[in-house]
Amino acid sequence: MTFYEAVGGEETFRRLVHRFYQGVADDPVLRPLYPEEDLGPAEERLRLFLIQYWGGPSTYSQQRGHPRLRMRHVPFVIGEPEREAWLRHMRDAVDELELPPDLEKMLWDYFTMAAQSMVNSR
Ligand code: HEM
Repeated sequence: MTFYEAVGGEETFRRLVHRFYQGVADDPVLRPLYPEEDLGPAEERLRLFLIQYWGGPSTYSQQRGHPRLRMRHVPFVIGEPEREAWLRHMRDAVDELELPPDLEKMLWDYFTMAAQSMVNSR
């Protein structure tokens, strides 16, 4: 079984990313970074990426190509305040899933590592 299946498949990632973007929508540090008025398309990209990363369908790469996430974040200034805000909203979103502790830890360890790797400014 993939991690994607173990946590509940598409529905779980839909809830996770939706909750995350509800936090972003009201965040004074993060909201200005998002170029589009409508956060819906960004929400979909993150959801499809995470689904693919954790072993679900590879729709993300069919639509967007190779993730190259660090490169795709270069246009945005991401320092400590941005990393912290991103992780805070993701923490809230992860908490609401109420996953079994071992699965929750895998997900959270990944997010902390990935968010650190996106930092491109001091
Ligand atoms: C895209 C900010 C961390 C995954 C974006 C965008 C912004 C952004 C402003 C453009 C929105 C759009 O898609 O139009 C940030 C900030 C982070 C962060 C401030 C703080 C560290 C992460 C992490 C991941 C991630 C940790 C993965 C676990 C993505 C993905 C996209 C994206 C998949 C869409 C890429 C594409 O296909 O164009 N991010 N991000 N981001 N971000 Fe982040």
